Order: sequence, then structure tokens, then C-alpha cells
Amino acid sequence: MIRGQKHHAVLPTATHDEAARQDFVAGLRVHVMRDVSSGNRTLYDTKVLPRFERTHGRAPADRHEVRREMNREPYHQAWGALLRTTQEMIWESVGSPIERQLDELIARNKAARARAGGSLRLDPALVVPRYQAATDIHVMPGSYHSDLCDDDLTAGAIYDKGLYIYAMGGLGDSNQDIGRGCIAYLKQHFPDLKPRRILDVGCTVGHSTVPFALAYPNAEVHGIDVGAASLRYAHARAESLGAAVHFSQQNAEQTDFPDGHFDLIVSHVLMHETSGDALPRIIRECRRLLAPGGIMTHCDVPQREGDAFDLAIPDWDTYNNNEPFMGHMRDTDMRALFTACGFESGRYFDGYVPNDTLNRDKKVAFRGGDGKKGKPWAVYGARLAD
Ligand SMILES: C[S@@+](CC[C@H](N)C(=O)[O-])C[C@H]1O[C@@H](n2cnc3c(N)ncnc32)[C@H](O)[C@@H]1O
Repeated sequence: MIRGQKHHAVLPTATHDEAARQDFVAGLRVHVMRDVSSGNRTLYDTKVLPRFERTHGRAPADRHEVRREMNREPYHQAWGALLRTTQEMIWESVGSPIERQLDELIARNKAARARAGGSLRLDPALVVPRYQAATDIHVMPGSYHSDLCDDDLTAGAIYDKGLYIYAMGGLGDSNQDIGRGCIAYLKQHFPDLKPRRILDVGCTVGHSTVPFALAYPNAEVHGIDVGAASLRYAHARAESLGAAVHFSQQNAEQTDFPDGHFDLIVSHVLMHETSGDALPRIIRECRRLLAPGGIMTHCDVPQREGDAFDLAIPDWDTYNNNEPFMGHMRDTDMRALFTACGFESGRYFDGYVPNDTLNRDKKVAFRGGDGKKGKPWAVYGARLAD
């Protein structure tokens, strides 16, 4: 049962039938990730790898050879079709309830924003970068930025409800686990950090921004994103959850904040959704915005580890789930990237968010294409000298 998402002022509701449909989709995803995915590994070990070795007299040289071999297999094809269909069904199952209650959600959104301790600043002239606009990221209709009507919040509502189903509740009752894990990492490794201003880059609806605002109540917390419909929803949601956050619609490649404005700059699952050209521009902008002694952390999927099969399987999303930059991010040498963008290499750090901050062990959400539990979220960061 996919219930238990924490209530807030703009969370869409579901009728009995709509909830039943959402439950079904969540259950289907559990089945695919837990029961069907593990067959990929068996298939590889017992058929695909031996056949490759017989034919070529060697093991696959890289993950691309594995992917091409796996793509020939009916089981793998059926698994992929099932996963892709489930992904599409997630958005459909949350989309129609939101469409049905859109006027009411917009009214609730305005009321919640009127109680503001934080703020919302939109820029109708902002051009959404092509790497965001050209595709519906992870098959989410309209992606994060489409505006369907005045004061629209559909994108935010779809992401909030859809992510909860996608994660099968495994990101916590407010989809807050990535932010919460990153905070735990920072408190563990940088106990001296007392940020006056925090920036969350690519905040969407503030799933991670709100935990930062609650964990650092003396800090002024900002969240930026390119999507107005996500930010309208984020603002009302944060107010309703008791967090004062200043949201603004800005491209992280070039913001209007002054130099050295933030002591802490964070992002959560932004990097794998930005292009290879944009990512260095975003890191350079973070460097400009960071105050002396400041910390930047980007929390995202772990990089590649394991045998050729393990390296290949995450590419399913790159090629089949409208995550065009996932593969590139997993291949990027972060230390080299951060150094090229102005951070001293000796001040680079990386690691994983502490596992005990996450729901993941109890859930099946983050199993890979082999059905196994993946590593926790990775942190890639750097700290400036004082
Ligand atoms: C996966 S979502 C991030 C989720 C969010 N950080 C969380 O913790 O739930 C990626 C977000 O990054 C935003 N984004 C992508 N490129 C951006 C850019 N150049 N500037 C600002 N936001 C960007 C997208 O609009 C999207 O909302």
C-alpha cells in the first residue's frame, strides 16, 4: 500500500479508485525491482557471458559490449518494457487526479503562500536550458518546468506524488531522505559548520531544501530552480511544513547572487540531470558564490563500480528512461572537474551519506537492474580555505 506520504497544504488527494490505481502501480514497481530484475544477473552469468566468451575468446571489454549483448535477450527486453511501462504508469496515475483538482490546488497554493515566512521570486523571461526543455526527464510529462495555465503547479504536484510512488515510500514520508542523508554527512564530517546562508541548487519542490531549513534554523535558506510550476508548489509546501525558504527561478549556471554569498551550497540529484557542458558552468558558479571556508556538496547517484555487468546496467536509464546525462555523470572524474572549476584538489572530498539516515534498507526502491540493493547516495564536495 503506497500510503503514508506526509500531508501538507498542496498535496493532491486521490479518490478511492485513483488511490487503488496508484497502489497497483507501486506494487507493480516493487514486483519488477525485487522479483524480475534479479533475472538479468542470472541471464548474464549463465547465458550472455558464456556465449560472448565462446564467440570472442574473451570477456566483454567494456559495458557497451555487455549492454548490446543484453539488449538481444527477450528476457531483458521484457524487463525493460515492463520497467518503462511502469514508469509511464506512475505519472499517469498521479496526473489525472491532479488535473481533476487543479483549480482547488491553485487556490490552496495561493493561501499557503500568503502565510509566507519565506518568499518566491519568479522570472518569466528565464530561458529554460535546452538540456531540460528538449526531453521529458525520466518520462515525466512536461518535465519540471511546463506551465499549463496561470499560477500552474502541476509539475511540482506530479513530481511530489510521482516520486513517492517511484521510490515506493523509500525516500521517507516527505521524500526527504536525500537531503536528510546529506545533512547527516555534513554534521558527521564538518561538525564546525554553522552556515549563515545556504543555497540548494535545482531544488524542484524543496524535498531536500526543507530538511536543511529545519536542520539549520538560524540560516537563511535559498532554493533555485528553472521550473516556475515546481517553485510555486515548493513555496506553498515549505510554508505548510513550517520551513521558511526563499525560492527563486534562476539558472544555476549564472545566478544573480553576489560573490561569496553562501557558506553552504548543496544539490541533490541535480548533477545527473544536467548536460556535460552545463555541469562545469554550474560548478564554477558554485565556486563564485561560496564564501571563504564554505562548503559545496552535490549528492547524487554513486559512480560506476563492479564488473562489466554492474557497469552496464545503470545505462538502462540513460538509453530508455529519458535520463540522457546519467551515463556521463557516472563517468565524470569529479575531482578533476571541481579542480578545473576553481576548487583546490586537496580540498575535494567524497563519500556516501550514512546508511542509517535512510529508509532504503527497509524498502526495495533503490535496487538496481540486477535486483540488488545499490549503494547509498554519494556525496561529491569541496571546501574552500578560510
Ligand atoms: C531531480 S530534480 C532535483 C530534486 C531535488 N533537488 C530534490 O532533492 O528532490 C532536478 C532539478 O534540477 C533542476 N535543474 C536542472 N538544471 C538546472 C539549472 N541549470 N538551474 C537550475 N535548476 C536546474 C530541474 O528543473 C529539476 O527541478
